[in-house]
Amino acid sequence: MPEKIIILDFGSQYTQLIARRVRELNVYCEIHPYNHLPDFDETVKGVILSGSPYSVRQDDAPQVDFRALQARFPVLGVCYGAQYIAQHSGGEVIASTIREYGRANLHFVDHGNPLLADIPIDSQVWMSHGDTISAIPEEFEVIASTDKVKVAAYHIKGSQTYGIQFHPEVTHSTDGTTLLKNFVIDICGCTPSWTADAFVETTVAALKEKLGNDHVIMALSGGVDSTVAAVLLHQAIGKNLHCIFVDHGLLRKNEYEQVLESYQHMGLNIKGVNAKERFYQKLAGVSEPEQKRKVIGAAFIDEFDEAAHAVQAELPEGVEVKWLGQGTIYPDVIESISVKGPSATIKSHHNVGGLPDFMKLKVVEPLNTLFKDEVRRVGKALGVAPNILGRHPFPGPGLAIRILGEITPEKVRILQEADDIYIRNLRESGWYDQVWQAGAIFLPVQSVGVMGDERTYEHVVALRAVGSLDGMTADWVHLPYDLLAKISNEIINHVKGINRVVYDISSKPPATIEWE
Ligand code: XMP
Repeated sequence: MPEKIIILDFGSQYTQLIARRVRELNVYCEIHPYNHLPDFDETVKGVILSGSPYSVRQDDAPQVDFRALQARFPVLGVCYGAQYIAQHSGGEVIASTIREYGRANLHFVDHGNPLLADIPIDSQVWMSHGDTISAIPEEFEVIASTDKVKVAAYHIKGSQTYGIQFHPEVTHSTDGTTLLKNFVIDICGCTPSWTADAFVETTVAALKEKLGNDHVIMALSGGVDSTVAAVLLHQAIGKNLHCIFVDHGLLRKNEYEQVLESYQHMGLNIKGVNAKERFYQKLAGVSEPEQKRKVIGAAFIDEFDEAAHAVQAELPEGVEVKWLGQGTIYPDVIESISVKGPSATIKSHHNVGGLPDFMKLKVVEPLNTLFKDEVRRVGKALGVAPNILGRHPFPGPGLAIRILGEITPEKVRILQEADDIYIRNLRESGWYDQVWQAGAIFLPVQSVGVMGDERTYEHVVALRAVGSLDGMTADWVHLPYDLLAKISNEIINHVKGINRVVYDISSKPPATIEWE
């Protein structure tokens, strides 16, 4: 097990960002809700207490036994974390009378303090708090101040406990990474050895140990997460990993064939299941978006179950598939154990991937400690082809939720053609990699056009391209007019059934990325 930093989360919007910054220093760290404490074993080298939407002055403010932690580990409190420690050590926290939000500069920095080594005077920091530490006990020393905030950072003398009232994890704190490095590497003594290569090495060894000669079954989607998870499992157990790739007939044009071929090329033990017709039949007459997702989810489970039985039937007598492999990544895990509990799902899909209990399989999730960009780096270290690692996210129900209204094979064909022209042009113009996600949407309206001497009355496709860091928020991409003109012409000239192309210029929120 690698050495690690534990971040105790009090619910701040920035907690994940702290974790990412620490990991960028090649030090492993985990987020745990303050009310579900992890095992503090010998791999733990330090603890960070996060910020919070709560005020320490509230009766129901989150509580944690920081003295027990402080006795064993270096501790860094950030905002709420810092105020909590101050208040519980005999200091005072009051509602701030001045605005402590936004950029500020540290006009005083105690360079003798290890937390602030190499942080220049006037370093810009990001403030975001409604409370402020107004008095500190005797044993505290102020180690940084801004014009308005005297206790911008403190140290408890003779200890390794620190507090900061600004956010080092936010890029507006220009020397935030240095501060985190000072804490994690110099004060906690972590070795910066948590790299993608190291992750592959330790994970493959751990999987070998855990799985031994067992057989694992896993559904692949063509996406980054399931592919990288499968390659890791494959390195650990080779042909004992049985992969299944279901064609639900709602993938992009030629995607099933191309992805299947890439998987075979990687040496994965994979079975393709052509289930197009069965999905189309089950979807006939269904136009309500949530219903579509449910039908697809249920049909997928049926297909997977059948394929799993076929895999089992081919194994020698007495050998059973015991495990289900999944490409779950860290944000899904954090979400499900967060301070506030699983957040209300807005669309039922966001939990797809779960398979029913009746399969009685144990779950193995080799990526469940990684963020998306880390998955990509691990994929690169594993030699996964860039065309798979760089793929845009694509929804599990695929084109079904990009055909508004009822799905027919003909509409799927039309949309696949339009989408193919769109994506190809994004690639050829160099825009593909600058976009988080792009796709065409088949609208349930017809409009008038002219073709030669004839009036036409055909369908409309909308094009959507968004830029995002995490999929939570997204802005529409300002694709050049010339490129949009070229794509529109090609689609209208080559895709029978479409006579109008529109471009979606809505941001998320208030709009979503998908139209249903
Ligand atoms: P929205 O539309 O909510 O999408 O802004 C956020 C991200 O989730 C993807 N998405 C889905 N993924 N099944 C999935 O596996 C779904 O039903 C689904 N609906 C949306 C969407 O493509 C985007 O990446």
